[in-house]
Parts: sequence; C-alpha cells; structure tokens
Amino acid sequence: MTHSSPLAQVGVVGLAVMGSNLARNFARHGHAVAVYNRTAAKTDAFIDSFGEEGEFRPAASVKEFVASLERPRRAIVMVQAGAATDAVIGELAAEMEPGDVIVDGGNALYTDTIRRERELAERGLHFVGAGISGGEEGALNGPSIMPGGPKESYESLGPLLEDISAKVDGEPCCTHIGPDGAGHFVKMVHNGIEYADMQVIGEAYHLLRYGAGLEPREIAEVFREWNKGDLDSYLIEITAEVLAQVDEKTGKPLVDVIVDAAGQKGTGRWTVQAALDLGAPVSAIGEAVFARALSSAAGQRDAAGDLPGGTTARFEDLGLSREEFVEDVRRALYASKLVAYAQGFDEIAAGSSEHGWDVDPRDLARIWRGGCIIRATFLNRIVEAYDEDPGLGSLLAAPYFSGQLTDLIDPWRRVVAAAARLGLPAPVFASSLAYYDALRADRLPAALIQGQRDFFGAHTYRRVDAEGSFHTDWSGDRAEKPVS
Ligand code: ATR
Repeated sequence: MTHSSPLAQVGVVGLAVMGSNLARNFARHGHAVAVYNRTAAKTDAFIDSFGEEGEFRPAASVKEFVASLERPRRAIVMVQAGAATDAVIGELAAEMEPGDVIVDGGNALYTDTIRRERELAERGLHFVGAGISGGEEGALNGPSIMPGGPKESYESLGPLLEDISAKVDGEPCCTHIGPDGAGHFVKMVHNGIEYADMQVIGEAYHLLRYGAGLEPREIAEVFREWNKGDLDSYLIEITAEVLAQVDEKTGKPLVDVIVDAAGQKGTGRWTVQAALDLGAPVSAIGEAVFARALSSAAGQRDAAGDLPGGTTARFEDLGLSREEFVEDVRRALYASKLVAYAQGFDEIAAGSSEHGWDVDPRDLARIWRGGCIIRATFLNRIVEAYDEDPGLGSLLAAPYFSGQLTDLIDPWRRVVAAAARLGLPAPVFASSLAYYDALRADRLPAALIQGQRDFFGAHTYRRVDAEGSFHTDWSGDRAEKPVS
C-alpha cells in the first residue's frame, strides 16, 4: 500500500539497528516513514539498503524531519539512553507544536521518563516512554510494545504501534500501560524477569551437566522435550539451540568455549534498585542479577578457586535415576520461574500504586505472549489467573498455580537439597524456595528481629493480642509499656 500524502505518518530518529528495524517494520506495514540520523551517512546507507522496502522520507536535519511529518506529528526516538536521548528530545521539541507526540523507544530509566514527560507537558507536547522488547528481530518483525505517557497520545499513536507489534491469536502485543513512566517501568521489570528466567534455565543446565553428568547435546534434547510442555517458551527453545551448537574451531560444544562471565546492560540492576526503594521483595530477580555480577567478579573467583567444597556426595548418592532427576529439575525450574514472575508482577503492582499508574497486570501478561524475549505459553495461564481474580494477592495463590505447586514442591526441595549436597550453585532455585516457604509460613523470625530492634534502639513492637505499640525497658526493670 502506498500513500498519496507527501507527509510521513511516523518518523524514526536514530538509525542504529533497533531504529532501522522499527522504521522498516512501519514501512512494511504500509506507513510512510520519515527517517533521520545525526550522522547523515547512516541515513544514506539506510536508504541504500532498505529504500525499496517501503516509503521513506530521509531528512538531513531535525527541522526537515519534523517538517516531513503529518500532524499530530509522531516521532520515535531510538538513540542511546541518557544524554543523547535528552539532546534529541530537546531538538525535536524545539521544532514541534502542541499536540505532537515524541516517543522514546529506548531503555530509559523510568524516573528520567517521568521527568521528560513533565517537562514536555509544560510545552503542550505529549511524551511517551515506550518499552520495546524483542531485540533486533522483534523490532523488525513484531515486538512487544509497552507505551506509557498520556492516554490521549495513545489515540493517535496506539494504532500505529499496534500495527507493527507482534500478534498472538490476532491480538496486538501492545497496549497503553499507564501515565508517564509506566511503560518504561514495566519494560524494566520485564527485563528483570528475563534475567531470572535465563538464570533458572542456566541453573537447570548446570545441575544436569555437572550433577547428573549429561553432555550439552543431551541437555539440548532435554530442553527440546521440556519445550513441549508447561515450559514452552522462546528462552527454552533458544537454550536448546545454544547447547546443541558445536564450535567449528575446536569441535567442542560451543558453551564450553564461551567465557563464563555474564554481561548486563543494567535494566536488571534497575529492577532490583527500584524494588529496594519500593520494598518489593524480588529475591529471585535479585539473585539472578547478582549471579551475573558474581560470574564477572574475576578477582574473587580467582581468590576462591581452592576453597574447600566439603562435599563428597556424588550424583549416585542422591538415590535418583537420571530420568527422575531430570524431571525433578524441570519441576524445580518451573516453580522457581513461577516465583520470579510472581515477584515481578508484585513489583509492578507496587510501582503502579506508588505512582498512581493503575497498570493492569492482565494486560501485561497478554502483551508479553508474543514479540518479546520472555514470550511463553505460561503467560496464557497468567492471563487466565487475572481473568479469574483481577485482585489476585500473589500469582502463586492463583488456583491453577497453587494446584500445580502441589506437584512441584517436593521435587523443588529435592533439587535445592541436591544442589547443596553436590556443591553446585543454584541461587535462584534456592532463594525462590526460601521465598515461597516464607510467604506461606504462619510465623516468621521477624518477631525476633522486632525484639532485637526494640532492645538496641527502642524501635517498639506490636503485640499479637493487643492494639498499639510497645516497648520493653531492656536496660531497666524489663517491664513492658505501651507507647503512644
Ligand atoms: P545500538 O545499541 O543499536 O547501536 P544505540 O547505541 O542505543 O544503538 O544508539 C545509537 C544511535 O544513537 C545512533 O543513531 C547515534 O547516531 P550516530 O549514528 O550519529 O552516532 C545516535 N546518537 C547517539 N548520540 C547522539 C546524540 N547526542 N545526538 C543524536 N543522536 C545520537
């Protein structure tokens, strides 16, 4: 489809990989797309390579770019997060008029998005921080899109974004998430969940490899099997691919020649930092972020290489066949993943309540089913859980999941115990089990902690059998007094 209007319906600033792919995606959907990049050579190269794919309006300056957009203007900024984003937004805003929309499609910190939205709102411009997930491939063929910003902006922007988003069962993987920073906040937590999801897969691999002694190609087969059941997901699928890959140079499994130091770009860390501020216990996500940091802590790993392991247990001592252990690990992985998602959704609820965003968790599960890295059949179950009970206190307590937990809990305990006995690290498996046991406990040692706090700092405590706060005179006669 081509458009007779000489103006472009949407514009993309920043033609690195993500920006280029988004622009191409819009064009392939029949939209005329204005494109601009600070370094003009990149714009030229883009047109040379992809100009035939659709209708593009290359611009040599921001002024020309803005002038080539139909009103209300819709410009998507895809440049480096931080100062570059601020610079580009400033240049665009100077040329735009009230009612125009600037979208930041990068991974901005949500507090920056809140600030930018406020500043641009004063000038009558709509600013939309949009989380875009799915990497390069998603940007080109259909990402999951999480736009925040003012609701009115979605009227003009939404249909365009929905058009290029992934579709699942005919539904677009894009919806208005909530005001100002809601979209980027949700994208941040999505990435935190992704860290945990990848880590639990890593832990499962590690236990099967160094616990049960399976070879990478055998584990690839295990993951292929797992991908047919509850764990059916993009991450499990690509894990099997990575494990089956043989290094051309050495003939070894590729995974054995890759340095075991995991990188990160920071969104996982932000998820945990925000969770600390909100008081949201995202321990599984936190352990996943720390596991990456630990893997890269070369100094400490070198220093600790000869520390005693103490364990003499071997796989044979566990009293399980390899098949039984593989199935136990599958269940432990699933249970830990469930905890990570429950924690992520709790953090989103906490952020939403703190900032008054009114984020609908059901919508998130729905738009994460396609396009993004954590896409999985499992998300359908989360959609159903919120359908049944929109006010669900914890995902773990949804009838479907609590029913499954009956069959997961014993294998999960066996695997965490096996990891400890074999001396293999499984931080997310272990911490998510501890989280689960803490959540369901009648009593927690927090009572003792309150006693300690009262002892050294007169921080007071509440009683189970009376209203109000109390303090014990620890250094005097140890009598208890109510505190007003
Ligand atoms: P990727 O990670 O995909 O390579 P990125 O680093 O997030 O992308 O963003 C790179 C884009 O930001 C480029 O389009 C870059 O423009 P140049 O090609 O001119 O380098 C753009 N960018 C970075 N800083 C910028 C700035 N201060 N003003 C305008 N664009 C900028």
